[in-house]
Amino acid sequence: MPNSYDIIDHSFDVIVLGAGGAGLRATLGMVAAGLNTACVTKVYPTRSHTVAAQGGISAALGNIEKDDWRWHMFDTVRGSDWLGDQDAIAYMCEEAIPAVVELEHLGVPFSRTDAGTIYQRRFGGHTTEYTKGDMAYRACAAADRTGHAILHTLYQQCLKHQARFFIEYFAIDLLMDEDGTCRGLLAWCLEDGSLHRFRANMVVIATGGCGRVYQSCTSAHICTGDGNAMALRAGLPLQDMEFIQFHPTGVYGAGVLITEGARGEGGFLTNSEGERFMPKYAPREKDLSSRDVVSRAEAIEIREGRGVGPKKDHIHLHLEHLPPEVLDERLPGIVHSARTFAGVDAHKEPIPVIPTVHYVMGGIPTNIRAEVVRPTKDNPEAVVPGLMAIGEAACVSVHGANRLGTNSLLDLIVFGRAASQRAAELIKPGSPVRETNGSEERVLQRFDRIRNSRGGNKPGEVRPLMQETMQAHFAVFRQGDILEEGVKKLAKLRDPLERVTVDDSSLLWNSTLLSALELSNLSEQAVVIAHSARARTESRGAHAREDYHKRDDVNWLKHTIAWKDEDWKVTFAHRPVRLNTLSNEVQSFPPAERTH
Ligand code: FUM
Repeated sequence: MPNSYDIIDHSFDVIVLGAGGAGLRATLGMVAAGLNTACVTKVYPTRSHTVAAQGGISAALGNIEKDDWRWHMFDTVRGSDWLGDQDAIAYMCEEAIPAVVELEHLGVPFSRTDAGTIYQRRFGGHTTEYTKGDMAYRACAAADRTGHAILHTLYQQCLKHQARFFIEYFAIDLLMDEDGTCRGLLAWCLEDGSLHRFRANMVVIATGGCGRVYQSCTSAHICTGDGNAMALRAGLPLQDMEFIQFHPTGVYGAGVLITEGARGEGGFLTNSEGERFMPKYAPREKDLSSRDVVSRAEAIEIREGRGVGPKKDHIHLHLEHLPPEVLDERLPGIVHSARTFAGVDAHKEPIPVIPTVHYVMGGIPTNIRAEVVRPTKDNPEAVVPGLMAIGEAACVSVHGANRLGTNSLLDLIVFGRAASQRAAELIKPGSPVRETNGSEERVLQRFDRIRNSRGGNKPGEVRPLMQETMQAHFAVFRQGDILEEGVKKLAKLRDPLERVTVDDSSLLWNSTLLSALELSNLSEQAVVIAHSARARTESRGAHAREDYHKRDDVNWLKHTIAWKDEDWKVTFAHRPVRLNTLSNEVQSFPPAERTH
């Protein structure tokens, strides 16, 4: 090893990696259960990307109109295009109600109805009476800053419970035993440059998604999917990475999110002819159809020459007809974003929008107790000891091929809590933590190689090449030859992506080294997304293939499981979709045609 490193050692019952909504909810549950827990995070907790979640968290509270968690479950299964696992979906939708009430009790400042109950708005794909009734009022909202409200409350609660935080520590890699057990992780403290070995009886990956694989996304720059890349390097697979969600209303040119809650409050979309086009595509749900449906409709309008603007390349979102008090009380952040990023006054003019990458449905496969699963030939549910994953980093899978808006905040909270419950069952507080068995050397060699890399390419210059390829080839609509070309382009980019120059070898807040490590993490996932998209020869949810128009349940009602090796070779296996609920309170929903 060219450099030798002094390593500072820590030992905890549990390490939670990431301090977004999932990581903080897990941390809170762990410390409340008496587990000595450290939360390691590359950003200050309240700067985690959950802070940007806007429109709400779903739960069938029925505060505005009658609702039922079984309707919520059906909508989620239907939204997932039947790729979601129904045991996990049933669990999440039933648990949503106590989970949101618990958040309220923890202090989340939800907006209120006149009766003083939690305010709820409509959101895409959420219906009543199994789609036979009206759209549901199910999104529990704190104006249009729901994620912000939840994140701050959870952080305050973690502090109150004296959770230990290691802030601005960048995790380099997992420390795995030869028998496949996770023993901890190695991290780099950005502030003082020290390296730290965190050993624990359980590591929980809560590092969010990898939206920054793409050129235009609503995700923050920190969304580089670090934990998922670490899983790949540890020889673990990712599941269903071909399913990338495009949000229909990213601000044109800026990518910033305009919440679906804007349409939930009565906003609508038009094309260059001033036509409200959504009823053509989804006569029942119109502008409140699922995101994949609305994004495809926008893409078709643009492709057929009915986009707005001089280049006819975007769409208009109208809110100017809404009463000013609705905009100012319910959507103040949107008014602000429209002014700042699009230069328009949403009270008076439409907002220019375009489908923008928003969420990765795939991730590290887990069971409903948040334990990481490494499927084998004999056992598709084999658990990786010592390792959990939650939130956008995980694929449990409650979102299947397409996530419904507001189910992400819910997923974070429900499975963050499930992780802490399972850890409390598995780990006796203070029980001995095993030594690691030497995987540090491999981890440090890679770190050192990137740190001393002088290949000539600045990370900030080569990253766009990858992002442009992803944007152009793995888009809202997909087609075999274009996917194939994208896979080839990525393979050609491997050399430039790996030959970066980190011209400063200091370890003190070295942002070039940080960018290089994040770029390496992004490229790992780009490759898996690309290969997985090429391999799935059907259309399902967000994966819309023009050469395979139809959903193919005979051949593809199954999860993609993908491993990537050091030579960028991707290999596949499949995991069955769980169509049973494990609950006597609800029937499962057999695969059916998705109508809107
Ligand atoms: O549109 C939104 O407010 C986003 C919500 C979500 O992705 O769940």
